[in-house]
Amino acid sequence: MNVITVTNQKGGVGKTTTAINLAAALAATGDRVLLVDMDPQANATSGVGCKGQRAAAGTVYDALTLTEPPASPLDFVLATSTERLSVIPASRELAGAEVELIPLPAREYRLKAVLDLLRPQFDTILIDSPPSLGLLTLNALVAADRVLIPLHCEYFALEGLADLVGTMRRVRGGLNPTLDVEGVLLTMNDDRTNLGQQVARDVREFFREKVYHTVIPRNVRLAEAPSHGLPVTVYDPKSRGAEAYTSLATEFLKRRQAVS
Ligand SMILES: Nc1ncnc2c1ncn2[C@@H]1O[C@H](COP(=O)(O)OP(=O)(O)OP(=O)(O)O)[C@@H](O)[C@H]1O
Ligand SMILES: [Mg+2]
Repeated sequence: MNVITVTNQKGGVGKTTTAINLAAALAATGDRVLLVDMDPQANATSGVGCKGQRAAAGTVYDALTLTEPPASPLDFVLATSTERLSVIPASRELAGAEVELIPLPAREYRLKAVLDLLRPQFDTILIDSPPSLGLLTLNALVAADRVLIPLHCEYFALEGLADLVGTMRRVRGGLNPTLDVEGVLLTMNDDRTNLGQQVARDVREFFREKVYHTVIPRNVRLAEAPSHGLPVTVYDPKSRGAEAYTSLATEFLKRRQAVS
């Protein structure tokens, strides 16, 4: 039960930042973690220092579209410079998959087919998804056990969530009946504004115990780290951003123990 898609069709809410840094913080606790980049922007790939790199069998684009699967699904996996953290990288090519997948058989199940084979190799698989509800996101939702929803604190956080909730309901109704919400994460919080607190109250009222106690603060280190190709926990382990994602990892693991 450990394939989790980080999703919210709203852009710029902290999906990729969360996928990279939760993945790295979990790896630091001893988990073997696989980060899967399902966004053609490939920000998760560059954020772990693998920009432009391909695994032996290519990128996630190949994982989705190859008709002849490789000898081993590990051929899609690249090691990163962070211990125990691997990635299935993305490239710009992935933008084409949104259309190229349409005529393919089992087009919604293609990521799931690859990741199910990789489950025994990893403790946690985290999928970063694009800011849309197309076939790439659908593949990510079908492959997942649960979704983690980042919400931007200072924004109309709940706006547009009805679309995501609707999509999840449809996925549950057919393609993936056991899909569940892993948790809701408040991101980019600014302590200096009351707005953040108001948003947090609204979100907790709506999602209740699904909302993580950990709130990710606005922290410039989180924005800088990707340009160095490093998770913040490696780039500046003492920063507030690193501390927040480490605390999120602890909370995440506690929940996992509680359900198992
Ligand atoms: N807690 C934070 N503090 C400061 N900057 C942040 C924080 N979280 C994210 N950012 C920055 O905000 C921008 C958007 O974040 P991110 O790329 O993680 O969002 P996203 O939801 O993945 O966006 P997209 O929908 O485009 O994929 C990035 O430049 C990122 O570095
Ligand atoms: Mg992103």
